[in-house]
This record gives sequence, structure tokens and C-alpha cells, in this order.
Amino acid sequence: MASLRSASLILFSIFLLSVPLATSISISENFLKCLSNYSKSSIPISKYVYTPNNSSYSSILQSSIQNLRFLSSKNLKPQFIITPVHESHVQGSVICSKKHDLQIRVRSGGHDYEGLSYLSDVPFVIIDLVNLRAIDVNVKENTAWVQAGATIGEVYYQIARKSITHGFPAGTCPTIGVGGLFSGGGLGTMVRKYGLASDNILDASLVDVNGRILNRKSMGEDLFWAILRGGGVSFGVIVSWKIRLVPVPPTVTVFTVTKTLQGGATKLIHRWQEIADKFHEGLFMRLIIQVVDGKNKGGTTIQVSFESLFLGGLKELLPLMEKSFPELGLKAKDCTETSWINSILYIAGYRNGEPMDVLKNRTLQPKSIYKNKSDFVKEPISEIDLEEIWRVLLKGEIRPLLLWEPLGGRMSKIPESETPFPHRAGNLYNIQYVMQWEEGGSKASEKHIERMREVYKFMAPYVSKSPRTAYLNYRDLDLGINEEGSNTSYSKASVWGRKYFKNNFKRLALVKSKVDPGNFFRNEQSIPPLVL
Ligand code: FDA
Repeated sequence: MASLRSASLILFSIFLLSVPLATSISISENFLKCLSNYSKSSIPISKYVYTPNNSSYSSILQSSIQNLRFLSSKNLKPQFIITPVHESHVQGSVICSKKHDLQIRVRSGGHDYEGLSYLSDVPFVIIDLVNLRAIDVNVKENTAWVQAGATIGEVYYQIARKSITHGFPAGTCPTIGVGGLFSGGGLGTMVRKYGLASDNILDASLVDVNGRILNRKSMGEDLFWAILRGGGVSFGVIVSWKIRLVPVPPTVTVFTVTKTLQGGATKLIHRWQEIADKFHEGLFMRLIIQVVDGKNKGGTTIQVSFESLFLGGLKELLPLMEKSFPELGLKAKDCTETSWINSILYIAGYRNGEPMDVLKNRTLQPKSIYKNKSDFVKEPISEIDLEEIWRVLLKGEIRPLLLWEPLGGRMSKIPESETPFPHRAGNLYNIQYVMQWEEGGSKASEKHIERMREVYKFMAPYVSKSPRTAYLNYRDLDLGINEEGSNTSYSKASVWGRKYFKNNFKRLALVKSKVDPGNFFRNEQSIPPLVL
């Protein structure tokens, strides 16, 4: 033990020599000493803490940045990147950052649309949970413990390895981290049958502002309520989740039917709006609406793909479709019967017989430059108005993509206040506006973001109002940001907060005032404390 400790100290001293001059030696030294004091593992600090002077600092920093728009941001300069390998490293990171007046950014999968898990304009550290990603599946109990740094693809893979009749309802992109995904909701292809990922969380382990590790019992129901979809990072660092596995049939069916305006897309989309939230709960049919080149040279048209998962076989699906959506003309040849795990690959776009092992690849999803926004729709948009929307989408060179995801089913049965995610009964579907581009630089960004805002503005009459609501996981800083510093005003934050959480925002702020009254865990859209 003594030799382990002295080896650790030697490594620690060597590590200190590599601290950059730009970072004050005393702060670095004290911060690193503080971290090593709290470590309960024998792993030397140099193995999980990186400063700008380390040769692997940049590659670790950039490793999971999904939105390449932020790669050249001036706010991408953490003083330390901590990649804990033991829970005590997370505890130490919180305590020492607080002590040394450093802000914290917590990163699990790095998919935040606005980069809030790795950007800050004040001195900060990143706690990157990439090394805390163990998954322990218990099919007998229908549960699993999942560490927050796991990706949802890794979770799906580990469940499928153990059982073909268990699954989990969460997101469609395999590389999203469960730290961010579950604490913001988690909307995927089984949302109509089983709700959001966060509707299926039984317990959690969280490091609070005092560095304590709390579970559901010790944190209490108020805080547990808040970390499910309230955005965990406002309340602490989530280390792991206990999830409830859900039953899936051994055979499911997937299909995609694609139509253009010339093939009657408008009428079909109009009809879809009337029935998509009322279908059999086992049927999830989303729309991918985009501008594509038309048949005539130089011309463009709107194309819609009806991309679907049915939790059952073809024999059951075809009569259901014939009854509720005959207009689509679905045929057996359009469908593929497969396993639930293969349906995950199918929806994620892997349709060439890729083995399920690819779900373990944390860089499977190509990175890109993008800006997304979201809406919820409560009334079907008329055919005439749909045509107006197409007119706006078809205008100009820049082509946004729209994803319409049906709600209803289980989502309508959960009361608005049961969890912070309030978009339940009365919401037909969610719209995600996706704008991706390849050209780097601020001019290209401005041009594309401006176009996205133009489309979003145009959509205002057709979507939810007072407030115009949005989905937290499709983070959008255009909705409003907190003031700098710890004195975030509740009333100002309500502008964006009520869009994500409606009346639940107040309860979230009250919980915040109890568990983090000093507002240590904060970012541009964190929940501010409210004292009544
Ligand atoms: P990241 O690590 O960037 O964290 C996101 C936020 O959560 C940050 O504020 C971060 O600080 C906080 N956080 C992360 N880990 C934490 C922890 N352990 N404790 C406390 N706070 C923590 N969503 C969806 O519902 N369904 C879908 O199908 C998809 N699909 C999709 C595809 C692609 C390509 C992208 C880029 C995104 C999605 N999303 C999505 C949105 C996604 O759910 C959302 O961006 C999540 O917040 C990402 O979680 P990560 O852990 O990957 O992000």
C-alpha cells in the first residue's frame, strides 16, 4: 500500500510539471492535490485528469463533440478535463471545483445541441463520464443499472445480448449518452407504448453539490422527480441510473414508405396527423420531411418518408394498417420482420445487415455541423397550410429537414405534472427542425441558422402557443438564456423554462433552491433557485 501511495505521489509530481504556464501553478497544484485527497482508488491522477499541456488533452476534449459547430469556439478551453474511473473522482471533482471557484460542465455522450456539456465562458472543468459506463442487466428482475457515461447503443446491445424479449424505450441515435438523454426525457420508437426513457427509471445515483452520493431514498422524491427530464445537471452529477426493462415481442416489423408531392404526400401527411397519435400503441410511425431534387432538371420537391416500427408481426400489422391508414397502401413487400435490436439498427439507418456489435461503437454516428429546434403540435395542420409550409421549405438553396414524431398512447396517460416533461395529453406530435451543413466558418453558420429561424418563425401559427413549447433534449438557446453568474433571475429564466417545462418549471426551481441554493450547478439554461 505504502509503495502504491509513493508511486502515486511520484506520478502526481511528474503530472504537476506538465501543467501549463497559462494556468496558475498554485491553483493547479491545489486543485490537483484536492482531487487526489478525495480519490478512493489507487489509480494515479495522471490517468484521469488532463490539462491543456497534456498531449491527449485535445483529442479527449474533442472525442465526443457531436456538433462540429463548436470545435472552434473560444469557450472550448476547460482548465481540466476529468475522466473519473471511480465514483469518488466525481465527488472530488465537485468538492474541489467548488472550493477553487471553477464551474463544472458534465459530459456523458457529448450530444448536447448547444454544446452545454463542454463550453463555458468562465473558468471551468469538464467531468467527462466516458470511463463510467458499466451496464448490469438483470432480466429476471426486468431491470438494469447503467452508468451515466454509457451510450444508449451500448445499453441496447447489453440488453439484447441477454434477451430477445426485453428492450428499453429511449432515443434512436445509438451514440447519445444516457447521462443527458434520460435526464432530459428520451424519446424513441417505443414512446407510444412505454413513454419516455425517463418514465422508466426506478432509481439513480447522484453526486450532489456537497459531494455526497445519494440514491432515490436518500435524495427524496422531490429531487428524484426533478432529475428525470428536469435536466440532471442543474441538480448534481448523475453517476448511474436503474432502469425498468420493458417486454418486446421476439418479432417486430419495420417499414419505410416514401412519397413526394407528386405522389400525394400532402394528403397522406394530413391524414397521418389525424391518426398517428391514435394508432395501436405498438405502432410508431414518424415522418421525415425534406426537400429533394425533383424529376425535372433543376426542380425540387418535398419528400416524406413514413418510417415505422410495429411491435408485432406482419400478420397483425397489415390488417391494422388497412383499417386505420389504408391511404398509405402498405404492402407486405414494404415490410421487414426482424428482432427488436435489429429494428434499432434499421431506424438508426444501418440496413445492410450490420451486426448488433456496431451499437458498441461510440463514434458510429457521423459528426456534423447543425442547429436544431423543436415544437409540439396540438391540432392537425390543414392541407392548405401544409402547402404553404412546403412553399417556405422549397424557397432558396438551404434545405432544412423536419422530423415529426407521434405521441399519444402511453404519453397521453401520464399526467402533465407527474414528471417535469409536460408535453402529454393533447399533443399530437413533436416537430424537430434539423439544419445541417458542411461549410465551416461563422458566415456559413449565420446563413444556415438564419434560415432555420425563418422556418421556425413561419411555423408559429401551426404549433402550441402560450407558451410555444419545446423539448429540453432538443436544446435551443434561441429560447432564452440565464444571466451570467450565480444570480440567475427566476422570472427571466421562466421565459425559456416554461417552454420546456410549463408549470413544472416553478416546482423545479423550488427543488433547486433546496438542494443547490447557491446555484453552483449552472449553465445557460440551468434551473435557477426560487425561494418563496
Ligand atoms: P451531453 O453529454 O452533451 O449532455 C447533455 C446535457 O446533459 C448537458 O447539459 C450535460 O451537462 C448534461 N449531462 C450529461 N451527463 C450528465 C450527468 N451524468 N449528470 C448530469 N447532467 C448531465 N433525443 C431523444 O430524446 N431522442 C432521440 O432519438 C435523439 N436523437 C438524437 C440524435 C443525435 C444525432 C443527437 C445529436 C441528439 C439526439 N437527441 C435525441 C438529443 C439528445 O437526447 C440530447 O442531446 C441529450 O441531452 C444528449 O445526451 P448526451 O449525454 O449525449 O449529451
